[in-house]
Amino acid sequence: VKSVINKYLSETQTEDEIKRRFKADMTAYLGCREVVPVVNGTVALEVALRGLGLSRGDFVIVPDISFVATATAVANCGLVPVYADVSSAYFGLTLEALRSRYSPRVRAAILVHFSGFVNRELFEIIEYCYRNDIFLVEDCAQAFSCTAHGMKVGTLGNAGTFSFQSSKIITAGEGGLIATNDPRLSAQFQAVSDWGLSPNLEKRRVDLASSNFRLSALQCYVLGNRLKDIDRVVAARRAYCDELEDACRRLGVEHRLPDPNTVFFDCPFFFPVTSGTQRNTVEPREESPLHRGAIVPAILKRFYPDLLEDYCNANPREITDGFCSNSIIADIDFINIAQVQGMPADRIITAYGEDASCRK
Ligand SMILES: Cc1ncc(COP(=O)(O)O)c(C=O)c1O
Repeated sequence: VKSVINKYLSETQTEDEIKRRFKADMTAYLGCREVVPVVNGTVALEVALRGLGLSRGDFVIVPDISFVATATAVANCGLVPVYADVSSAYFGLTLEALRSRYSPRVRAAILVHFSGFVNRELFEIIEYCYRNDIFLVEDCAQAFSCTAHGMKVGTLGNAGTFSFQSSKIITAGEGGLIATNDPRLSAQFQAVSDWGLSPNLEKRRVDLASSNFRLSALQCYVLGNRLKDIDRVVAARRAYCDELEDACRRLGVEHRLPDPNTVFFDCPFFFPVTSGTQRNTVEPREESPLHRGAIVPAILKRFYPDLLEDYCNANPREITDGFCSNSIIADIDFINIAQVQGMPADRIITAYGEDASCRK
């Protein structure tokens, strides 16, 4: 980091040039038309949702397993999260779950490529959303570099959001990004991230009320440098995941990685083992599955009290208690790879195996 910062300080480029170059490098890497860098992955979701121009109280379907920010972003924008069940094979939304949670109030859905496992029903879900006039946001906070049919995830829905927080595939400590192929949406995202100002530099006028969510030039510079090394970083993560898998086989500990697939390229973020000790699972722990969490209702109660009843009615216990997300969270430890990478795989897996046998 020190050497990158020294290099940054000695560069002759202006901040605008650094940001322009980062945006050009990112659009080229992701293979999309536009990107809007923002301060973190949570804000990326909020800016994307605000930029879609939804109305207060609209419903947004979210998968029941994710980091809590997927649902808090919805609530913070004055929208109502509607939880849908996830696949026990790849931990993401299924088409069937999406269909079953649809109502005319649903205007958007957020699909999370959970733990760097690409959603196996991605294309069917895209088609369903398109046909039903639902905006689709891909939350790719854990899936930077993953592909579907050779195309990067995050570029296939109306918008894709990314996080560059320190446990992510590439990082600048914090950071976020929105990708889109729609120039009209891109202008909206740009405006929301920049005080509501129109991106047209000749006519800088306020198009909507917002605040400053821009990513700094220094962070853009750090990320641009990390991007040059991305193939090596991804290969190292995949190789470590293979080591963990091999250790599971030798030590008799079960894992729950999705089947390898020639259409989808995964870059694991968590390594799922079925020890059920809840040692290192999705954080914050009490917030997953999302329908059981306290943060989202607290946000609605404080900022949009009139929407709390809609939220409770949209997510009744009779439905959410039947979700398989409940047993996924109860039975699987999601080992955060960034926290253990570099340590001997046998040591990590032995610890989980011992916990599992203690439980029996
Ligand atoms: C799926 C998902 N969405 C959103 C976020 C939020 O990103 P950030 O921590 O950069 O705000 C995270 C962070 O881990 C995440 O895992």
